[in-house]
Amino acid sequence: MSSINWFPGHMNIARKKLAESMEKTDVIIEILDARIPHASLNPLLDQIRAHRQRPALRVLNKLDMADPEVTKLWIAELSTPGNKVVAVSARRPQDIAKLPQLANLLAPHRGTPLKPLRMLIAGIPNVGKSTIMNALLKKRVAAVGDEPAITKTQQRLDLNDRMMLTDTPGLLWPRIDYPQDGLKLAASNTIGRNAYDEYEVAIYLGNLLFGRYAKLLTARYGALPDSCDGISLIEHIAAQRGLRGKGGEYDLEKAAHLLLNDYRNSLIGRITLETPAEIKVQLSTPPQIVPRVDKDTSPAT
Ligand code: G4P
Repeated sequence: MSSINWFPGHMNIARKKLAESMEKTDVIIEILDARIPHASLNPLLDQIRAHRQRPALRVLNKLDMADPEVTKLWIAELSTPGNKVVAVSARRPQDIAKLPQLANLLAPHRGTPLKPLRMLIAGIPNVGKSTIMNALLKKRVAAVGDEPAITKTQQRLDLNDRMMLTDTPGLLWPRIDYPQDGLKLAASNTIGRNAYDEYEVAIYLGNLLFGRYAKLLTARYGALPDSCDGISLIEHIAAQRGLRGKGGEYDLEKAAHLLLNDYRNSLIGRITLETPAEIKVQLSTPPQIVPRVDKDTSPAT
């Protein structure tokens, strides 16, 4: 596939800052996208965290959009000694209200006025960091995570007199080892629009959805062709929705865009793009490192 890349040079500044602030952190709250728990997990963050021996509360966000059965598998898979995993929807305040207590369980020696619990929140762009922070603080605060770290500093926010939260500038990692991770990140709208080809990403998504969620596809787009794959799904959508170019031919780019938007807006149903078993198979094959290209990294709106 063509290169998807997203690691501008100034991310090195963010990396250094993150390593520094881990010193003064008790628990990392790592926000993952429940639809792509592996692809949205930042290996660089994990490396720094493990080096500093800090526990993580892994939050599988967007639970309302993800396949509930696969989410259960991921909770079991990602729970490791010393770390916790919880699935939430940032749009449900009651889900978010329980996060500070869960984090405190990982650092029970903290959480008093004298020794407040120091939490650091991290996650890739568009994963729901600001929605979660707003819910935790019960007011609107600007997340610093969405934009490159060059001019942004970390901000420290007090939840109460026993707990504080540091928001980190978005930290990305230098390379994506497996192209399928990049395609899932792009499909889930966490990569800048200029860094990938929509049609290519939609074909990948279509193949994947047809393999696992054919019934949901049929419910949304009508009976599918017998031997359907990503390309024929896009052609089918163009025909079913009457998407045509000026010359009357099917407009496959429009259909690809529609498929991506439908997935991103949960209009097809609750979908998870990867299972722990598939990721084990993936990781048993050699990486195909995607080369670095500096491009705009803000997600498509
Ligand atoms: P970020 O700070 O990590 O970049 O992410 P942010 O909170 O801005 O969330 C990105 C988008 O994801 C927002 O949608 C937000 O509403 C949505 N979102 C976050 N968490 C959840 C969740 O648990 N469930 C669902 N369904 N959506 C979630 P948006 O369309 O960009 O903005 P908005 O119009 O919804 O505010």
